[in-house]
Amino acid sequence: MTAWATATLALYGAGGAAAAASLFRLHRRLELSRAKHRSLAGHSRMARRLAALVPFYEYDEARFFCADGAPPEVARCRRAGFEQLSALYKTRFAESVRRTAEAAESISDLQFTGAYRVPFQFSRYTRKHLPSGAFMQSSEGVTITDLDGNRFYDLTGAYGVNVLGYGFYKEAIERGAEQVRALGPVLGPYHPVLLENVKLLKEIAGQDEVSFHMSGTEAVMQAVRLARYHTRRSHLVRFCGAYHGWWGDVQPGIGNPLPAHETYTLKEMSTDTLRVLRTRHDIACVLVNPLQALHPNGSAPGDSALLDSSRRAHFDKDAYAAWLKELRAVCTERNIALIFDEVFVGFRVARGGAQEYFGVRADLVTYGKTLGGGLPIGVVCGRHELMKRFRDDRPADICFARGSFNSHPYVMGAMNEFLHHLQTPAGHAIYHDLDKTWNARTQRLNDALRAEDLPIEVANLSSIWTVCYTRPSRYNWMFQYYLRAEGLALSWVGTGRLIFSLNYTEVDFEAVLERFVAAAKAMQRDGWWWSHPELTNKSIKRAILKETIARRVFARGQ
Ligand SMILES: Cc1ncc(COP(=O)(O)O)c(C=O)c1O
Repeated sequence: MTAWATATLALYGAGGAAAAASLFRLHRRLELSRAKHRSLAGHSRMARRLAALVPFYEYDEARFFCADGAPPEVARCRRAGFEQLSALYKTRFAESVRRTAEAAESISDLQFTGAYRVPFQFSRYTRKHLPSGAFMQSSEGVTITDLDGNRFYDLTGAYGVNVLGYGFYKEAIERGAEQVRALGPVLGPYHPVLLENVKLLKEIAGQDEVSFHMSGTEAVMQAVRLARYHTRRSHLVRFCGAYHGWWGDVQPGIGNPLPAHETYTLKEMSTDTLRVLRTRHDIACVLVNPLQALHPNGSAPGDSALLDSSRRAHFDKDAYAAWLKELRAVCTERNIALIFDEVFVGFRVARGGAQEYFGVRADLVTYGKTLGGGLPIGVVCGRHELMKRFRDDRPADICFARGSFNSHPYVMGAMNEFLHHLQTPAGHAIYHDLDKTWNARTQRLNDALRAEDLPIEVANLSSIWTVCYTRPSRYNWMFQYYLRAEGLALSWVGTGRLIFSLNYTEVDFEAVLERFVAAAKAMQRDGWWWSHPELTNKSIKRAILKETIARRVFARGQ
């Protein structure tokens, strides 16, 4: 063969190899695309780009009451109901609202939550006429009391922290402080109470080691960092819609000014996702938030996104357990760290958290919220090989994680009270028939709502609820205001997430049920759920899209 022929052959060979490599890359890319959820939440970059295009507009007073095309008599009925509610809010919650207005000028968080309680088109008018107080003065049993002396049944669950009842945490903090008083807030050295916490945590989590942090967000950061360090791979997989705190890599979509380059957001409960996990070589870990079992691939439901009635939720424990088992098998096969983020569900669904509840062991588990016994906390538990932060044979190759307040003696004291309580017969009893109790309560409420022909249905994962709406409507977000008027306290995400503490008695729950139904009846009476054959979730979305485009075009012309 001549030199010329050899060179030509080599060229062909190189070209063929390059083409094959390109095809292979394309194939991988397609696999990745297929594993993305079709919703915007599954396409973080596109969601961020689109979000940046949405212009602000709002309804004037007339349109506020008939944005769905309701006839004048319905709009009048709504207005009358709204004005009545507004008068009640302004008198009954006067002091709480006055202090909130004073604080809001200086607290950016309050401005944010105030603005995002309801869809933005309705927000300013609602804020003005139905102001929400952000202050409370006391708690007792399952109730909290505002600055005007109004007592509410607490459905906020203190963002999920309150599992055992506020009374328990008050005592845990006091008794815990007593335990560590002699040392006080000395940071760096440990108080000996930490030893027992570690022992109990290892036993409960079924893991070898523990690290302490200050919040759930930090615990997740550390778990992901450890997975990247030990696998020497770059990417984390999170599932569409799942919340893991507000750190950038786990919040790649709306809310984060920067794109997250090393995050894959994939479909949960999907074989397409398993295929990606099986074939890619850059995946360090898979993050699971087991709360998503209530609405797989759905974002954390908040009433500001309640544009229509398409919010759905349904918990199928067996299906989710089967999914986690498949995930476990693939992660083991591919040496990917499986991380359960149990900051929310840990100690709420079972003593051993989601691992016990679904019967699947993770490689790393994060806890937070209630574990601090009422004080701020984040914890990572994991296998020794994954928790280690340095390499014996490479002294400069470390995985750094420190924090001034980690292992704070007062937090360790309160945590010790919490963990101790779980060891007692009363602590064990908390979890006895837990799902049976909460499923029955949910069923009872749903039956009562159905009996009154009210367009509401509640879905639950144990003691965690989401309110769904069964009739197309633009006004479901109003329900949170009727609930508050009936003495039911919600967090700023409104009816998206109701969280019960486990010390609710049947009597307490019955009172909540009655108030809940009364609120829905009042809202129905005031005409907010007016329906018409042409009013569908689709037509509502289309109308909002039209308004948005019109506003954008109009704004550009100005
Ligand atoms: C599953 C999950 N992970 C992480 C976090 C963040 O925890 P923190 O608010 O303590 O930072 C939360 C908070 O709600 C959570 O629910």
